[in-house]
Amino acid sequence: METVLSGIRSTGQLHLGNYFGALKNFIKMQHEARCFFFIADYHSLTTHPDPTILHGNVKSVLSEYLAAGLDPEVATIYIQSDVPEVTELSLLLSMHAYVGELERTASFKDKIRKQPQNVNAGLLCYPVLMAADILLHRADKVPVGKDQEQHLEMTRLYARRFNSFYGVDYFPESQPYNFGQELVKIPGLDGSGKMGKSEGNGVFLSDSDEAIRKKVMRAVTDSGPAAPGQPMSEPVRNLFTIMKAVSQPDTLEFFKGCYDRCEIRYGDMKKQLAEDIIAVVRPIRERIEAIQADDKYLHEVVTAGAEKARASARKTLAEVREIMGIHKF
Ligand code: TRP
Repeated sequence: METVLSGIRSTGQLHLGNYFGALKNFIKMQHEARCFFFIADYHSLTTHPDPTILHGNVKSVLSEYLAAGLDPEVATIYIQSDVPEVTELSLLLSMHAYVGELERTASFKDKIRKQPQNVNAGLLCYPVLMAADILLHRADKVPVGKDQEQHLEMTRLYARRFNSFYGVDYFPESQPYNFGQELVKIPGLDGSGKMGKSEGNGVFLSDSDEAIRKKVMRAVTDSGPAAPGQPMSEPVRNLFTIMKAVSQPDTLEFFKGCYDRCEIRYGDMKKQLAEDIIAVVRPIRERIEAIQADDKYLHEVVTAGAEKARASARKTLAEVREIMGIHKF
């Protein structure tokens, strides 16, 4: 069975785009592969988050993924810092990571621009820690966006280098995985581009019904179809795309028909769209709230997750130490 590993940033809220995009695929994938999902809290330290909010961030990200459908009985879900083996693997791999390569990493150069006052060694070694996350479970596939592909290239470089240096065939060449056709892309409500968390154009899984109605009613449209058969403008096409994801097929058909006959009233469409989004989001939001209030449950989930992850990590570390010549007395 294939091993799939996914690292989740410890900041940010999930929006509808995440839900219909990667998350739906994760939920399905957890039954088809040996899956690890972890929250990358060590990585977040490179930007010096306020210690009083770090734990809260981890807690809300974890609650959202659980509420959306990641199942701790099926997949291994853990917090990176609960598995200290990853730091040892990171140290061992760093012996094969050259400083010149690390300095040339796009994400590092980007951070030098963005936080010139805090160019710490953790930032420089970010790709090594990420390689350790992945190689800790010898993952075959890693679902990531475009911005992470260079990090995965570096992971493969370290894996190859390790294998050839020690004359072993130990680490796999972990491949990026982007779900291809399966990945539904949800546009934002601002008329162009996809839904994002920083663009201010999204509906979050934690949004209240009222917040959703407000956001949808404010969504960008156009002045209406001029004549039948004219191509749809991007903002309106985007609303139909969202509707296709959340609404019943006959609802979609109905408003498409209105549009085609130039009889559409965007206000009516938005009202319906808002209610259909609410029908998707409300049960998830209620689960987020219930999980967030249940510290005992969260404790059980992360404890069991860390246990499973550490069992896999300990095995890798024992083998890596042996290969590198660190033998037990
Ligand atoms: N760097 C990733 C991001 O910013 C998060 C991450 C850390 C990750 N370790 C990982 C992703 C391992 C995949 C595998 O999104």
